[in-house]
Amino acid sequence: METDKIRKEALAELEKAGDAASIEKLQVKYLGRKGEISLLLRTLKDLSVDERRKLGPKLQSLKNELEGLFSNRLAMAASDKQQATRVADLTAPGKKVSRGHLHPLTLVDADIRKIFTSMNFSVVEGPEVETEYYNFDALNVPEFHPAREMWDTFWLKPANGKLQMANGRSNKPSAISDKLLLRTHTSPVQIRYMEKNKPPFQIIAPGRTFRYEATDASHEVNFYQLEGLMVGKDVSLANFKFVVEEFFKRFFARQKIEFRYRPSYFPFVEPGVEVIIKLNNKWLEVMGAGMVHPRVFEYAGYNPRDWQGFAFGVGIDRLAMIKYKIPDIRMFYSGDLRFIKQF
Ligand code: PHE
Repeated sequence: METDKIRKEALAELEKAGDAASIEKLQVKYLGRKGEISLLLRTLKDLSVDERRKLGPKLQSLKNELEGLFSNRLAMAASDKQQATRVADLTAPGKKVSRGHLHPLTLVDADIRKIFTSMNFSVVEGPEVETEYYNFDALNVPEFHPAREMWDTFWLKPANGKLQMANGRSNKPSAISDKLLLRTHTSPVQIRYMEKNKPPFQIIAPGRTFRYEATDASHEVNFYQLEGLMVGKDVSLANFKFVVEEFFKRFFARQKIEFRYRPSYFPFVEPGVEVIIKLNNKWLEVMGAGMVHPRVFEYAGYNPRDWQGFAFGVGIDRLAMIKYKIPDIRMFYSGDLRFIKQF
């Protein structure tokens, strides 16, 4: 039948028509004044009454059906178009995509590692839970030595009466203390490294440290330090001065910086010095350092007549505070996004 064929064709073509313009074109082709259905309707008058009765209603219902379909499809195309324009609205304000980023302490830590490794230092690490031996005794700070007052210590309770550390020294005399504590500085890494390695070498040891103190703007119970140690046949304070000044100049890139060295005391160095830098017209104490004490070499199993070296310790939090002008160390650990998101 003619009407079935027209219907099939019209549906197939409509299916393929993507936009309003092509749908309208089809609408004209089938339903227009000179469209296929109109033409057929016009031929009705030439048919016999019987044929007219059969074909007439069929054509009319096809016409109705197609009119409905076309107007539906045109409405859909119009709303598609509206949608598309909305997506591409270049005047709409942008949405800020929030990305993850590094904590200021992580940034500073990465900076420090980069500078020292470029000067041929290796990066090593040690445990945060230490023994009394490594944190104090081997660093020439025996029990009852008044210098222990310099480090308020978190002592750990022994589990079932036994104080022991899995990776403790194996060749130590039995008098050596395995009492556990949270390391008060990164200096025990000096001993651990020297026990296992032969000089010459130069290392840094960044890491977490703990002190049993009241917190305030410049003190936290948990903070980070960077230890440095360089040992060789003739490593001197002059070498120290070069390394440390090179480090600070690069760390505080392009800022004007001056250095001063003051005598200081740490039991594990002799002589001991304190490094003071002038930044933005202010003198700041930034580092404790000195030549490794002969007793420390002995504890580590080196002959102090064969080797000499320098060691230094610096607060990573403090460096970050100076670099980014952060007024309170507690901000690092506050988890406050208003602070964190500024980096
Ligand atoms: N360990 C010392 C401290 O925590 C710093 C230091 C390290 C001083 C190495 C001299 C040499 O204060």
